[in-house]
Amino acid sequence: MTNPTSSGEIVVGLDIGTTKVCAVVGEVDADGISIMGAHSVPCRGLRKGIVSNIDWTVRAIKDAVDAAQNMAGVEIRTVYAGVAGSHIHSQSSDGVAAIAGGEVTRADVERVLEGARAIPVDADRQILHVLPREYIVDAQDGIRDPIGMSGVRLGARVNLVTAATSCVQNVIRCAERCGLTVADVVLEPLASAEAVLSEAETEIGCAVVDIGGGTTDLILYVDGGIAHTSVIPVGGMNITNDIAAGLRTPMAEADRLKRLFGCALGRMVGEDEEIEVPGVGGHNPRRAARRVLSDIIEPRAEEMFAVIRRRIEDTGLLEQLSAGVILTGGAVLLEGMPEFAEEILGMPVRIGFPTGVRGIVQAVHGPQFATGVGLVKYGAQAMADARARAQAPSHSMIRQKVSASISEPPVSGLRNKNGLWGWIKQAF
Ligand SMILES: Nc1ncnc2c1ncn2[C@@H]1O[C@H](COP(=O)(O)OP(=O)(O)OP(=O)(O)O)[C@@H](O)[C@H]1O
Ligand SMILES: [Mg+2]
Repeated sequence: MTNPTSSGEIVVGLDIGTTKVCAVVGEVDADGISIMGAHSVPCRGLRKGIVSNIDWTVRAIKDAVDAAQNMAGVEIRTVYAGVAGSHIHSQSSDGVAAIAGGEVTRADVERVLEGARAIPVDADRQILHVLPREYIVDAQDGIRDPIGMSGVRLGARVNLVTAATSCVQNVIRCAERCGLTVADVVLEPLASAEAVLSEAETEIGCAVVDIGGGTTDLILYVDGGIAHTSVIPVGGMNITNDIAAGLRTPMAEADRLKRLFGCALGRMVGEDEEIEVPGVGGHNPRRAARRVLSDIIEPRAEEMFAVIRRRIEDTGLLEQLSAGVILTGGAVLLEGMPEFAEEILGMPVRIGFPTGVRGIVQAVHGPQFATGVGLVKYGAQAMADARARAQAPSHSMIRQKVSASISEPPVSGLRNKNGLWGWIKQAF
């Protein structure tokens, strides 16, 4: 898709979340990505990251896309859509291939990755991503870009991400019912990480934890590669539910109180601070100590971070996450979340805001926009990959992306040693 007013290509990210649908429009040129428009619409069509009401989801997608395209002044026809939910699993796999001509070529890499993805997958599941962790040329391991290296035997250690086919198809169906073509379906935490991480953090090891409304998405980077990804079915809505039940107030009011006065750590709240709690079913509003609110939130936040910690420990990679944890997603805007996370996870924590884009950045300034911006970055990279494959097929490193659900052959994603923009500049 092109923009009639400039030479760049338009890439659109469609984040279909549990609480909102967000469309982000970016224009990609040789200098990078410029955000041209973005719009979020509340949506109740998903439960814990999975589409549960097609009509509601379709309506929200239409509204978000219409508003984003008006803001950007372009017509949106194709999107990169996110997928999440606890149906997502990841597992390690290995592949081996002979190096045909004594020097590793792109074709050798594609063959070894094909081998790595040749594992039995249940009939109702599909492989969403094949993410290389490292390559091995003869006896040398830890290689990130094997192309051009000499040897006789190429190995690949990858992370396979699989998803329930029906969940992926429902995302595609909703977009198609809005007249949109889905260029690719992308694992949401992968997109969020793309938006908020620096190259250095992926090199020395880190965890990205995207706490949204219905899901907490986890992705671990070790030695520059993705070592683990999973989705935990808890999020900010669990906190809102607790507040609504604990203070006997409507859900919308509970969400408002959480955003305005909530705090994950009770000791950060003054003893004498008070809030007004609207009543439910005609009851009058009443005053309550703000501490009461944090007393409800704290145990839930503690439980969430304890589950995250256990999930990281179970991977055996905790010691390798030297750059700590990058928290993103709307729920981390709750006061006290980074401090509490640092205590329970026992690692340095920072909030991840989308970076590496220009243009109307204020429209996507916030951790709740990480997935939308990341989808645009992912799409820009996929387009650069396609161009690079046509132009310079032997000088690239492959992060293979396979979308069995989409009527296109497996696509290879590329991450250049110099990061996304290093690669895109090389490709132009
Ligand atoms: N300022 C704030 N303070 C506290 N919580 C907030 C704030 N802003 C948003 N939230 C919470 O963040 C959550 C929504 O986050 P986000 O937009 O990342 O979720 P989503 O993408 O719709 O859902 P998911 O990724 O789980 O499918 C909601 O629970 C909301 O109450
Ligand atoms: Mg989300």
